Amino acid sequence: MPTAVSKDSTHGFSKAQNGTKEAHTNEDPLPERVSKGYIKERRTSQASNSLVFTIREGVGQLAKTLQIFTDNNVNLQHIESRSSQKIKDAYEFIVNFDTSSGGDLKSCIEKIKEGAEHVTLCTREKISRQLSDEVPWFPRRIEDLDLFANHILSYGSELSADHPGFTDEVYRARRKEVADIAFNYKHGQEIPRVVYNEREVETWRIVYRELTKKYPTHACREHNHIMPLMVEHCGYREDNIPQLEDISRFLKKATGFSLRPVAGLLSSRDFLAGLAFRVFHSTQYIRHHTTPFYTPEPDVCHELLGHAPLFADPDFARFSQEIGLASLGAPDEYIEKLATCYWFTVEFGLCRQDGELKAYGAGLLSSFGELDYCLSDKPEVRTFDPAATGNQKYPITQYQPVYFVAESFQQAQQKMREYALSIPRPFDVHYNPYTQQIEVLDSIHQLQVLASDLGVEMSLLKSALKKLQT
Ligand SMILES: [Fe+2]
Repeated sequence: MPTAVSKDSTHGFSKAQNGTKEAHTNEDPLPERVSKGYIKERRTSQASNSLVFTIREGVGQLAKTLQIFTDNNVNLQHIESRSSQKIKDAYEFIVNFDTSSGGDLKSCIEKIKEGAEHVTLCTREKISRQLSDEVPWFPRRIEDLDLFANHILSYGSELSADHPGFTDEVYRARRKEVADIAFNYKHGQEIPRVVYNEREVETWRIVYRELTKKYPTHACREHNHIMPLMVEHCGYREDNIPQLEDISRFLKKATGFSLRPVAGLLSSRDFLAGLAFRVFHSTQYIRHHTTPFYTPEPDVCHELLGHAPLFADPDFARFSQEIGLASLGAPDEYIEKLATCYWFTVEFGLCRQDGELKAYGAGLLSSFGELDYCLSDKPEVRTFDPAATGNQKYPITQYQPVYFVAESFQQAQQKMREYALSIPRPFDVHYNPYTQQIEVLDSIHQLQVLASDLGVEMSLLKSALKKLQT
């Protein structure tokens, strides 16, 4: 988890991991708004360290294994099992634990390995990264997003001294009230509706009116295609701030994407993991009314105008999920590269359509000033290439000097997929939309099942093509 002080205005995760990056959706050029002490690390004691292991059927085998945890003072918090997809007549167990009581995790794992197979440690903490077979923890079920939803880097009324609402007690109280909705949210629940007051709606109206004037000429065709649908189905209007629940329902029908309220900034790793499940973490509060064209962090204007529409586009949805899947279990340095790719695409991406540059990044589509600037001849424009883009440095308090252009979302997805192959991790992952689970592909049997499923799909494709041709 990051510890550096940082804030981020244009997307829902923190760039604090390298402690250097920050951005703005700001009409003031080169604002000096770096704050100190704004971000607070919040930890919870919820289980987010897991040990995955397989044991063969046998009387008392599980009890013996669990006793090892007790003997080594490692506190078990949750356990679940399923038939092993790797070994016949065996079961795979996922055990969540914490080591706050000072247990000997290394000894515990060594003992477990004596009687179990395919032992993999997944941990959010670096306390034991020296142990072999360890990969960074990642959610395997969509419900697991609950485990880190509140591992946020800022919360509710915690505003920096230079935040426009810092001295406004009413605004701070309101921020906390809205953030509390997200803090108490669990997967599967309906997202509570916020009754926005007149002042909040007025702020939205100013932003909505100005941005929607520019979309026909500045936004990509997909965004312009979807915006009218958001108006029709999600309550997008000047005089109404749309509700996350309505948008989420619409997106689910369109591409399977959903929104999940978040009370503050997540780490890059956690934020990207949500995308693997086609879940986008969205704030629900709005910027301060005195600065309708400036926000030092994501708010509903940024999320709903910049991000939400494109998640209804199938190709963009696949591309976004591809970044998320690539992040699962990836080493920290690759999380930073993926977060940078996300930055230059989902946040600040340009695309070329009919020979013209158009904006598709949410940081652009929600920023009145940068939307003009990014399409001018001032910035440098390069072709999107994940290996190079992921290493690109960028300034934190001014408009981007460099933008990356995707020829299409399909091509961008293909490039991300190829790039993901270079990420060192001992397995590949596959998202099963039926179970809403991540399948870790690390056995021949699993690959056979996947190949079989693909075979069925290919047969269907052939049959459908044949019928179209006759
Ligand atoms: Fe964003």
